[in-house]
Amino acid sequence: MRGLTVDLVGQVSQPGLVQDVSFTVSRGESVALIGESGCGKTVTAMAILGLLQSGLKISSGQVCFQGKDLLTCSPRELRAVRGGAIGAIFQEPMSSLNPTMTVGEQIAEARRLHLKESRKVALRHARELLDRVGIANAAQRVLAYPHEMSGGMQQRVMIASAIACDPALVLADEPTTALDVTIQAEILELLRELRREQGIAVLLVTHDLGVVADFCDRVVAMYAGNVVERSDVLRLFADPVHPYTRALLDSTPHNGQARKALPVIRGRVPVAGTFPAGCRFEPRCVHGGHEACARPQQEADLGAGRSTRCARVAAGDLVLQQVAVR
Ligand SMILES: Nc1ncnc2c1ncn2[C@@H]1O[C@H](COP(=O)(O)OP(=O)(O)O)[C@@H](O)[C@H]1O
Ligand code: SF4
Ligand SMILES: [Mg+2]
Repeated sequence: MRGLTVDLVGQVSQPGLVQDVSFTVSRGESVALIGESGCGKTVTAMAILGLLQSGLKISSGQVCFQGKDLLTCSPRELRAVRGGAIGAIFQEPMSSLNPTMTVGEQIAEARRLHLKESRKVALRHARELLDRVGIANAAQRVLAYPHEMSGGMQQRVMIASAIACDPALVLADEPTTALDVTIQAEILELLRELRREQGIAVLLVTHDLGVVADFCDRVVAMYAGNVVERSDVLRLFADPVHPYTRALLDSTPHNGQARKALPVIRGRVPVAGTFPAGCRFEPRCVHGGHEACARPQQEADLGAGRSTRCARVAAGDLVLQQVAVR
């Protein structure tokens, strides 16, 4: 993805609701899209799928996938990619599953549509897919309706539909947020297996840094519609290069650390329509107030796959240190 910019137009308007977002996801790789709620993660993921709500308009950028720019594809081409070479999993499985169809028919439908399989063959594959995603008794479960299943099972069904047509990329938007911790771990393990065995790339939208550390290779951190930092996971956790990511890590409990003494990031993510004209993080940044902070920030490439969108860090004027926790 290169330079994706989405504007909010209408009664409330926000140019650059998502602004100049660039990142890549390679085969078999897992990239995390992180940031607090309201930072533009879902809008970015939906733009990839061509599923933006009304009022949201793409004003520039490219989403290159298998030699095509998805932003200039016809609706028909896009439908062929969606659910085919790109699978999607959302936070609430029930909002994506059709309550009036058995789960088997829903999964089979994707294969009939994209792979032109007969109903019978597609249903057989649906059964295999349910088995693949760890649903016991798949032969019977294929006949069940979504409401007859638990949340964890429904999410497995969503994953089965997302991978039904052997996708190259799966977009998973907070896929485990609505699930309890044990099920969450099982679902992540399943996604890990799919990456390993089928080379599926995963773009994982999450605000859970524990999940990022555990599951992802690289991280794209967003704040108020901007990518503020790109990094591999190890270096992000060891040495973040943007004040927002530093603050995010400082405010998150690490393994075994007591929860109570952690610093919080003051203030809130700005709502659409009220983004600052200069550095979007400045109202909350403990290093703000400099001349450079008053200007819109550009992403600065730091080499080795890392970037920061902070002029002070890029100029070497600011070195970030972990806040001491008592
Ligand atoms: N359809 C929409 N109309 C107006 N504002 C929207 C719409 N969709 C998202 N937004 C706004 O865009 C910002 C980013 O939203 P979103 O991508 O859902 O955040 P995240 O997924 O990071 O929590 C938020 O300020 C949200 O209120
Ligand atoms: S540009 Fe200034 S306000 Fe923005 S993140 Fe960097 S130091 Fe903070
Ligand atoms: Mg979201």
